[in-house]
Amino acid sequence: MCGIVGYVGHRDASDVLVSALTRLEYRGYDSAGIAVFEDGVINVAKSKGKLKDLVEKMDKEGKPKGVAGIGHTRWATHGEPSDINSHPHSGARVTLVHNGIIENYKELKEFLIKDGRRFLSDTDTEVVAQLLDHYYNYISDPIKAIIRTTQDLRGSFALGIVFENYPDTVFAVRRESPLIIGVGKDENFIASDVPAIIKYTKDYYLLEHDEVAVLSADGVKVYDTHYQPVVKTLKTADWDVDAVGKCGYPHYMIKEINEQPTAIRNTVTPRVKDGMPNLEECNITPEALRKIRNIFIVACGTAMHSGMVGKYVMENIARTHVTVDIASEFRYRDPIIGKGDLIIIVSQSGETADSLAAMRLAKQKGAQTLAIVNAMGSTIAREADMLIYTHAGPEISVASTKAYMVQLAVMYLFAFELAFAKGTIDEEKYKYYTSKLLETPDMVQRTIESTTEIAQKISTQLITADSLLYIGRGLDYALSMEGSLKLKEISYIHSESYAAGELKHGTISLITQEMPVIAVATQSALYEKTVSNIKEVKARGAKVIMICKESDDVPGDVADCVLKVLDFEEILLPMLVCVPLQLIAYYTAVQRGNDVDQPRNLAKSVTVE
Ligand code: AGP
Repeated sequence: MCGIVGYVGHRDASDVLVSALTRLEYRGYDSAGIAVFEDGVINVAKSKGKLKDLVEKMDKEGKPKGVAGIGHTRWATHGEPSDINSHPHSGARVTLVHNGIIENYKELKEFLIKDGRRFLSDTDTEVVAQLLDHYYNYISDPIKAIIRTTQDLRGSFALGIVFENYPDTVFAVRRESPLIIGVGKDENFIASDVPAIIKYTKDYYLLEHDEVAVLSADGVKVYDTHYQPVVKTLKTADWDVDAVGKCGYPHYMIKEINEQPTAIRNTVTPRVKDGMPNLEECNITPEALRKIRNIFIVACGTAMHSGMVGKYVMENIARTHVTVDIASEFRYRDPIIGKGDLIIIVSQSGETADSLAAMRLAKQKGAQTLAIVNAMGSTIAREADMLIYTHAGPEISVASTKAYMVQLAVMYLFAFELAFAKGTIDEEKYKYYTSKLLETPDMVQRTIESTTEIAQKISTQLITADSLLYIGRGLDYALSMEGSLKLKEISYIHSESYAAGELKHGTISLITQEMPVIAVATQSALYEKTVSNIKEVKARGAKVIMICKESDDVPGDVADCVLKVLDFEEILLPMLVCVPLQLIAYYTAVQRGNDVDQPRNLAKSVTVE
């Protein structure tokens, strides 16, 4: 979704803003713009399209020159992508950029039109600019005007603002939408996310809801809604510029696939003590686990798919009932939850609107909430009762890979801990599972090495397909859901994942020679059953790509192509098998010439419902 940045310091502000926006491209956008103070006057440049279109436009028409300004990448919500609808937007003396959605913009617009104001764009953002200008006209103090304006706004916003009479000063305020304040030496920044500014500084403040920040080259001041100064705690990002660069890889996605062993290590190792998981630093104690009645895992997209694996594992070894819910469904279905229930919210960004709303609903109903989040300091992380950070580092590719992998790792840690606390596994088994989990970084590394070539070959066979099917049973089915999503979001080939045993109840009628089937069969107890289902689709002409274990003896007539993964503890196999599924999706998208890291219509962080 939209990205916002702001800069005030000694460098060329246009260059800094464009460079910072480049680091936010992963969020998905369809237009971009900047506003820079030039000799005390706010100079705006904006364009539909990508940042390179904006840069070309500025090369032709002149780049705003100055040392302070704001910038934006827009993911259209109100009004089509166009030059006019691009941010920044202005009232007479106020110019701003916005990430979020103003729910009551229509009524505010009507009020402003009656007051004699005219609008150029279809956006809710221009309404905020005009409203702020309206209050600024008679309050004249910019901070008071911002505070007064936010009192009228319903919805979510992160705003970067410049006022005509305050050259080389950037103002910012947020509610719901993320915003950080980067703190440098003689220069300061605002950004939707830390990667935008990591090239310049690792130090930042988190802005709380409705706090107003005032940035100049020599300092940052923050005020609460009563105009009282707020003392902020400086945070430091613990990763470097390489973490947000491609480091020689052609795409972020393949870089991130290769970072998975390190991501697992960083996530699991600090949580293992004396050979056993220890989640006490996350506020999770065996006593609390024993009291849990039902577990609900609530999330969206890939994060929800990690919950599907979690469900199978927790039910299997901890004998606890687990429901997996899509957050956008959960929040509106009046779920039967309350005291004694645990709601696990999984999110890479920690800002997904539906997941956040689901978590707030769960809290309201008296349930305990546990967040499994990657982005430090994000809203979901801050509001949950208990928190387990996944340490994947920044994930830039829209298609999630390493974040999914570490979400799986945490599902296992949690499931082992839960099972031991509930007495469904003994200490020996508990330590054994944990030791196997500690082996996964090496096993995932070996899987990347051993499956890349065959994944490339398989993808060559898929590039002309219009549609394909993923099938599996149990854990393999849970995993196939993610394989299918990965393929469709970046290759634009339609695919579905189906429980193999369910095919006969309708979906098998779709099978023709034109529909490849990727069958995942890694679980011994279900192997024969899945092979029978594979034979059924094979008999109806499907081209079958089968994924199974190295030791499986696959009869020649079962599959057209067999991809084998290393033998390993079966319950942990999803962590290995997701690798070739990611690679197949990646190479298919590459061969189809798609924009792998920023697939069409998608945004990395879905901050609107
Ligand atoms: C992943 O490849 C997707 N782009 C998407 O499904 C994502 O997982 C989903 O939007 C949830 O995001 P979150 O983890 O940041 O909450």
